[in-house]
Amino acid sequence: MALSALLEEVRGGDLPTHVGIIMDGNGRWAKARGLSRLEGHRQGALAAERIVRFVVKERLFPYLTLFAFSTENWARPRHEVDGLFALFESFLREKTEELIDSGIKLLVVGDHKPLPEGLQAAIEEIEKKTAQNGALTLAIALNFGGRWAILRAAKDLLRAARSIAMGPEEVGEELFRAYLPTGFLPDMDFLIRTGGRVRVSNFLLWELAYTELYFTDILWPDFDEEALLYALKDFQRRERSFGRVKG
Ligand code: IPE
Ligand code: IPE
Ligand code: MG
Repeated sequence: MALSALLEEVRGGDLPTHVGIIMDGNGRWAKARGLSRLEGHRQGALAAERIVRFVVKERLFPYLTLFAFSTENWARPRHEVDGLFALFESFLREKTEELIDSGIKLLVVGDHKPLPEGLQAAIEEIEKKTAQNGALTLAIALNFGGRWAILRAAKDLLRAARSIAMGPEEVGEELFRAYLPTGFLPDMDFLIRTGGRVRVSNFLLWELAYTELYFTDILWPDFDEEALLYALKDFQRRERSFGRVKG
């Protein structure tokens, strides 16, 4: 089916509000071509660019969260970790103008402190420069772990409770969510994971409670507009009941 026809079809159905993507398979993509893992990550960055451009141009949904680096990815060889950070930094710096012009509000969620200083500065700058945008909220999960996020919220909440004399019975879901580093994001409606693995790998956990999950064998550098539209078509076939009986 031509891309434009597919797009029309997808537009005709219900679209998710918040989509998350676990961009997996860069290493295997590179290995299959006799290239370095870093070259795989470079191609992966291009795939991310292509998808973000398409989502914002077609206004497909207002929230997109991309998993770029997990709290467990530090266990990779030093040169791969350094190479990834260098890639993130140059990406953020080179794309600043395009991000501003296309109306993207970019936020980097994760523990920033252990990241290289240059990368931290680039993050701060781009977050500030795109803060007023609203066409698409793009969250990049970088040095992010779902458990880290929940633990951080619990710690912040304990600190706050002490200073404002708040009791445990006052802590409800909405209050707890507000303390999460991802508190600005709505629940995730649809999660796409490329690269054939069928797991969550410590991505957003709180927001995943009722997410529709979609796994594809396509390796991330090969994931394109058409693949995204087919995934969205699959989402549109799902019956979401949230624990209720649908009559
Ligand atoms: C995902 O691709 C990118 C990151 C985790 C940064 P991988 O690097 O995990 O690729 P595979 O899974 O080894 O193919
Ligand atoms: C998940 O991919 C993290 C990112 C895509 C950033 P991994 O390749 O790190 O996950 P596992 O090791 O297959 O669970
Ligand atoms: Mg992987």
